[in-house]
Amino acid sequence: MQLTARSGSALAAKTDLLVLVLGKKDKAEFPRGFSATAAAAKRAGDEPTGFGDALTLYPDGRAAQKRLLLLGVGADADAEALRRAVAKAQQAAHAVEAREFVVAFGKDALAGVDAYRAGVAVGEGAVLGAYEYSKPGAKKATAVAGKAAVMAWTGKLVARFTKGVKQGVLRGNAACFARDLGNRSGNLLTPTKLAAEARKLAGPRLKCRVLSEAAMAKLKMGSLLSVSRGSREQAKLILLDYNPVRARKTICVVGKGLTFDAGGISLKPGAAMDEMRYDMCGGAAVLGLFHAISKGAIRPKARVVGLVPSSENLPDGLAPKPGDIVTACDGTTIEVLNTDAEGRLILCDALAYAVKTYKPVEMVDLATLTGAVVMALGHETSGAMGNNDALRDEIVAAGEVAGDRCWPLPLWEVHRDQMKSKFADLRNINNRGDGAGSSAGGAFLSYFVGETPWVHLDIAGSAWNAKAKDYYRSGATGSGVRVLIEWLSTR
Ligand code: BES
Ligand code: MN
Ligand code: ZN
Repeated sequence: MQLTARSGSALAAKTDLLVLVLGKKDKAEFPRGFSATAAAAKRAGDEPTGFGDALTLYPDGRAAQKRLLLLGVGADADAEALRRAVAKAQQAAHAVEAREFVVAFGKDALAGVDAYRAGVAVGEGAVLGAYEYSKPGAKKATAVAGKAAVMAWTGKLVARFTKGVKQGVLRGNAACFARDLGNRSGNLLTPTKLAAEARKLAGPRLKCRVLSEAAMAKLKMGSLLSVSRGSREQAKLILLDYNPVRARKTICVVGKGLTFDAGGISLKPGAAMDEMRYDMCGGAAVLGLFHAISKGAIRPKARVVGLVPSSENLPDGLAPKPGDIVTACDGTTIEVLNTDAEGRLILCDALAYAVKTYKPVEMVDLATLTGAVVMALGHETSGAMGNNDALRDEIVAAGEVAGDRCWPLPLWEVHRDQMKSKFADLRNINNRGDGAGSSAGGAFLSYFVGETPWVHLDIAGSAWNAKAKDYYRSGATGSGVRVLIEWLSTR
């Protein structure tokens, strides 16, 4: 996907499709050749300035444009409104098989958004809106290249907008990389294949190392390996290490990489079980972050280490049974009361290993951990909880800016107490009557992070099935990627 920015009036631009994005107070200006058709639209009362309004016009005389699309963003348009409008422009260009398009913004459409942030939203909207999962064997669809023009701004504002567009394109590409991984079915994306995707991201400043089951056995990761016992696919622990010169601090980002979750012996119901392909979206978000780092979208001063424990969770003669006791790499014993609460079983070894090996000053994990978070927050929001309210609030704030929203859920001592077992140190689920399933998941993980300031993002709702909103239509959303990039852009 390409989107470049330019300034000045777009009304003379020679293009297959000119898209004018209009705020409530913007009066549409029409390029040459559109006066009669524009007058006719006006007579009919069609003035598309409200959010979501759209009107396509064709020239009635000699014109530099084949078509004109007017898109409304309404009053007080925010970055999200711009993101959506540009996604729509991108899709319109695709629908009419335009060779390229120009999208231009009225003054009021941009009035409420900082120039750089507007540019980021525009870049993201174009890339996210162009995304389509390419079926195996099919040729990858190429997105229509676009130019974004800001008609109302000059000088510094245009420079900042242009910088934003470049950044937005990189962020959008990172999120689409994660979406592509998320959408891949279980057989097309095994832990081994996920590891191969991670290896492709490696470069001079970014190392990738993959731990095999044998290596994990040496590290005594008995919890992670117990999940993988029911599967013939080898589990992997993917390590991505961005280590810039003179880095003084380390940040760890951990993502659940269940490439397919059937539930194990605590088997899931059959309906919609295919959706459990998305159970590696936390891991995909981590890979998406490193995609952005590898392309230079952000250059954190800190060392950033990504850890993605990856496995399948299937029923089998060797699979763990309800009641089994397993031991994590830090010596904690765990009673596995439900084999379908497997995410926390693979994450706990990765978290404990991260703390011990890298001594991070901050740590974030992302996981499609609980169905309960879908009940609590739906598909538009990730649940955020942890042991440090300040860090959690920073993540929530970054999500707000990035349009990748997170909202706090409690993680208190009561939740931690519910995870104590009669037969081992911990149990992997709380009691049925306790409720608060998402907090219980977070509480379990909290035992493995020690004193490290840490936030757990439960993305089970946001990772897929979000309501269509122009830049997502179906399938994996890439949630987590943009919030991580935004948060790390401050580190
Ligand atoms: N991957 C699922 C969580 C999930 C469920 C994500 C539905 C999206 C939609 C996870 O491994 C799981 O099965 N969690 C259980 C936990 C329970 C057994 C405590 C759940 O949420 O039902
Ligand atoms: Mn499960
Ligand atoms: Zn799962």
